[in-house]
Amino acid sequence: MVKKDLKIALGSDHGGFRLKEKIEAYLTARGYLVADFGTNSAESVDYPVYAKKVCAEVLEKRADFGILVCGTGLGMAICANKIKGIRAVTPENTFSAKMSRAHNNANVLTLGERVLGSELAFEIIEAFLNADYEGERHQRRIDMFE
Ligand code: RB5
Repeated sequence: MVKKDLKIALGSDHGGFRLKEKIEAYLTARGYLVADFGTNSAESVDYPVYAKKVCAEVLEKRADFGILVCGTGLGMAICANKIKGIRAVTPENTFSAKMSRAHNNANVLTLGERVLGSELAFEIIEAFLNADYEGERHQRRIDMFE
């Protein structure tokens, strides 16, 4: 069952711009509510700007999840994980994407345009968005670092 009422905040730098555009089209076509926080061209920009914008949407509950795209997904993850309350992950397979929700209650997904083909990126996104957090013992562990 696809959770199509989810609100997704989406952002990228220039290294992730093309994949970000494809993700927006993919999610919108499937009924997800997507807010795009840029960047809007392949001109060089600084990824922390976009990480901060998208993470603020998640923390302020205007979005259920954030998706950030850069060249590798790594710079975005490092930035996002500096922000209290954000749990960002960079899964490169669907199992990790699902488990990052089930056990880690990840709230931001970061992806690398230079790493993933768009079809794999879409599958990773679906695995992430359609998994449920299991809570219980996992919440105790999250509370230990939050
Ligand atoms: C930009 O060249 C690149 O460094 C950026 O998109 C990202 O991959 C950083 O982690």
